[in-house]
Amino acid sequence: MIKNQWYAILPSKAVKKNKMLGVKRLNLDLALFRNTKNELGCVVDQCTHRGAELSKGKIKGDCIRCPFHGLQFDKNGKCMFIPANGKASTVDISRYNVKHYLVKESNGIIYLWYGDEENATGELPFFYDHVDDSYVYSEIEDHWNSHYSRSIENQLDVVHVPIVHYNTIGRGNKTLINGPKVEFENNVLTTSANNEVDEGQTPKPAAECIIKETYLSFMFPNMWMNHISHKVKVIIYFAPVDEENTVLYIRFYCKITNSRIINRIIAFFGKFANRIIERQDKRVVITQKPKASALKSGEKLLSGDGPIIKYRRVSDELKNSDKS
Ligand code: FES
Ligand SMILES: [Fe+2]
Repeated sequence: MIKNQWYAILPSKAVKKNKMLGVKRLNLDLALFRNTKNELGCVVDQCTHRGAELSKGKIKGDCIRCPFHGLQFDKNGKCMFIPANGKASTVDISRYNVKHYLVKESNGIIYLWYGDEENATGELPFFYDHVDDSYVYSEIEDHWNSHYSRSIENQLDVVHVPIVHYNTIGRGNKTLINGPKVEFENNVLTTSANNEVDEGQTPKPAAECIIKETYLSFMFPNMWMNHISHKVKVIIYFAPVDEENTVLYIRFYCKITNSRIINRIIAFFGKFANRIIERQDKRVVITQKPKASALKSGEKLLSGDGPIIKYRRVSDELKNSDKS
């Protein structure tokens, strides 16, 4: 994992009022909940007393209550009450505080700050300049038995399109890979397929390729967009579960017509298209070995793998800069 980043981990709707949610993300067992003000709390899902899962407990006012002996914690993990000590107790109970994580919400997505809390600054990663309230969207999710690096790289891979998606988005047998051109600016990697039918021509180098109107963008650490057109986009956030699992949240954004109702219908059908395509990808990506990708590996890459190489380079730089 790259440290000191905001990771999109869940849709906001996954954490309901008055209901605890236990979930694994970024190799951490987490308990999420909302207090009476609808503010999110996120703590380690392990009680400091004797280790029970807090997510199996209940919400009591602005606190969560452990299901075992009833210790209560607020949204910052601060221990507020120990029933066994009694209401009149004045004993310092701060040693029972449970570790919490910073969480924020934007655009219906919950983000978790993975790193040192004092470094948590900046905007939550999202394609703010590309989608706004004029769009409607549908969302599906799917669990992939793959490391998040592999699921992300798959979405930057222009070489697989005519092979894996030969009967869907890769129709037309455009197996010859020009470039592709790869740009990286302001934490965003952008590329665009320039594939052609192989008629014996030599593939063009990346320098002779362009970023087309339909392009792919990836924003570190885990947000991707397929800019299909000015009116249709697909956004995926890849929530890392652990070293071998990722949950993909796939949104179909649409503002094709002036009617939000019709756009909603289109977005509704768009999610089925997304499902078919992601299942074609998933079938292959979950088989990749080793589970996580790496800049230095035994893989023998092609020139068309430029976006993947760039993704690995930047990931490495971010991981190393964090160590310094
Ligand atoms: S284990 Fe949580 S209160 Fe005892
Ligand atoms: Fe694909």
